[in-house]
Amino acid sequence: MCGIVGYIGKEDCINPLVAGLTSLEYRGYDSAGIAILNGDSLKVLKDEGKLSRLKDLLKKNELCSNIGIGHTRWATHGAPSKENAHPHTCCQDKIAVVHNGIIENHSVLREDLIKKGHKFSSETDTEIIAHLIEDFYEGDLKAAVSKAIGFLKGSFALVVMSSDNPKLIVTAKQDSPMVLGIGKNANLVASDIPALLGQTREMIIMDNGEMAVLGQDSYQIIDFDGNPVNKAIAHISWDQEAAEKGGFEDFMLKEIHEQPVAVRETLRGLIDDDGTVNLKELKIDSSRIKDINRVVIIACGTSYHAGLVGNSAIESWARIPVELDIASEFRYRNLLVDDKTLVIAITQSGETADTLAGLRSAKDKGAIVVAVTNVVGSSVTREADGLIYTHAGPEIGVAATKTFTSQIAALYVIALFIAQVKGRLTNEEIKKRSVKLWDIPELIKQALTQEENIKKIAQKYAKKPDFLFLGRGLGVPIALEGALKLKEISYIHAEGCAAGEMKHGPIALIDDDCPVVVVATNSATIDKVKANTEEVKARNAQIIAVVNEGNHIFDGVADDLLFVPEISDIFSPIINIIPLQLFAYYVAKAKGCNVDQPRNLAKSVTVE
Ligand code: M6R
Repeated sequence: MCGIVGYIGKEDCINPLVAGLTSLEYRGYDSAGIAILNGDSLKVLKDEGKLSRLKDLLKKNELCSNIGIGHTRWATHGAPSKENAHPHTCCQDKIAVVHNGIIENHSVLREDLIKKGHKFSSETDTEIIAHLIEDFYEGDLKAAVSKAIGFLKGSFALVVMSSDNPKLIVTAKQDSPMVLGIGKNANLVASDIPALLGQTREMIIMDNGEMAVLGQDSYQIIDFDGNPVNKAIAHISWDQEAAEKGGFEDFMLKEIHEQPVAVRETLRGLIDDDGTVNLKELKIDSSRIKDINRVVIIACGTSYHAGLVGNSAIESWARIPVELDIASEFRYRNLLVDDKTLVIAITQSGETADTLAGLRSAKDKGAIVVAVTNVVGSSVTREADGLIYTHAGPEIGVAATKTFTSQIAALYVIALFIAQVKGRLTNEEIKKRSVKLWDIPELIKQALTQEENIKKIAQKYAKKPDFLFLGRGLGVPIALEGALKLKEISYIHAEGCAAGEMKHGPIALIDDDCPVVVVATNSATIDKVKANTEEVKARNAQIIAVVNEGNHIFDGVADDLLFVPEISDIFSPIINIIPLQLFAYYVAKAKGCNVDQPRNLAKSVTVE
């Protein structure tokens, strides 16, 4: 995944480009670059590494221009390097391109272009686009881009500028996100909405198969066949503050603290004040849901862990078999789904390639596909039959936190909805549970009050090389997610495991240098969890236990306690994850890690 931005207007483009790239850096930070019109020619500045390197270059080169494009890269084809950084230019350096996506047939196109005499200076798939446009160029940039994209296979959001056409920039979109910003004295384009908020609140979300030609005070949208497309301008009311850190040291910490609001907003979008489930965006006839005989949940990473919780809630309340699959596996299975299967694809970004591919395969087999996502206008929203939005607001930290708890909240509501439609719970039983959901935001707030205690405990363990996370029942998804959070931001090896499974292998890891984190809140299996904890204690492990306030069952067993307020077992995951998010955060901070942009990771994984 990469971030792209383009500006054409009456003012200098450097500030809007840099502001846009700063907001987009979560999409990739292997390199950054810009191209601007400098007199009659293009000037490209780019470097390997984070945006700060580009900013240093800009300080040394005093540039000013009213048209430019920019890019922040997450490497796919070609290592992170200055040569592979975007923008890429053609042989004569008259055309510059920034790209987000993957050109699958780039090798074939490259060979053809080399035969025609084009010389390449990078290993990227993107560079072929610049040369291809050059090959078709006969004085009309729009026409050349249009011809070039006809040869591209794969996904692309492109922004193109040319020194021979100084009054326009051209964009095209297929399977990668793209938004136009319509300003008073400028028009812009970027990979997402927050990147443009500093310039305008009037936006157009582009769809697949569309191109746009932006001038200083005009824009034209056409389809790939050249037919004009009329699109509504959406007024975006998001506060710019919402996309910034708001006083917290990192986005991740801010987003952890935003969870009471994120969950409340998510519930507000799905349940009416009187407790009635109201899935406004679902747009699937209830009779189709009534007929389903199976639910399949697909997702990756943290979203998969949310799916594990959803699995339990749907089976418990709707009494229908649920299967859960990792999207990258599901997409290649010989699928057993049909028009009686409801497939729920969970993806906060709405852009995860494997989840999208799984969704398409399920649709091809006739399944009813519903997507749970946080991003309006993301790819998944255009492909699913029905939508359930989480309303967590923009999540910038690469580690998913508020989108995770919001996904769980949404999945509880979906479980109630299926139970309602299939008549497995009475209206009264539905309302009883939906009313309980409204307690969750306040209980998350209470869990967050433990932050100082958790910080001290995290600092005590920050030098340990390995961690094991254990839980039973609904503690398992939280053990898995707690371990994922710790490893992704602190680079400490951590494994999550069902406590009963531990004696079948993981117990061999235990020694006094491998602390064990146990999810040990009240449930039907708490005594079994305690017995497993004693087994690891007997092997010299230090124990950190997540327990309910006022519960002394782990006193004398655990070395350290992380307290959470009590809630019924089915809702416990959404509360129990809070101390483990904070634990991972403070371990990573103690180690001096960049929690918002952990190495090798990107916010959404738009490649296989
Ligand atoms: O955007 P998605 O929810 O589809 O993303 C899925 C995973 O890539 C994501 O949850 C990943 O595991 C995060 N880094 C977790 O913090």
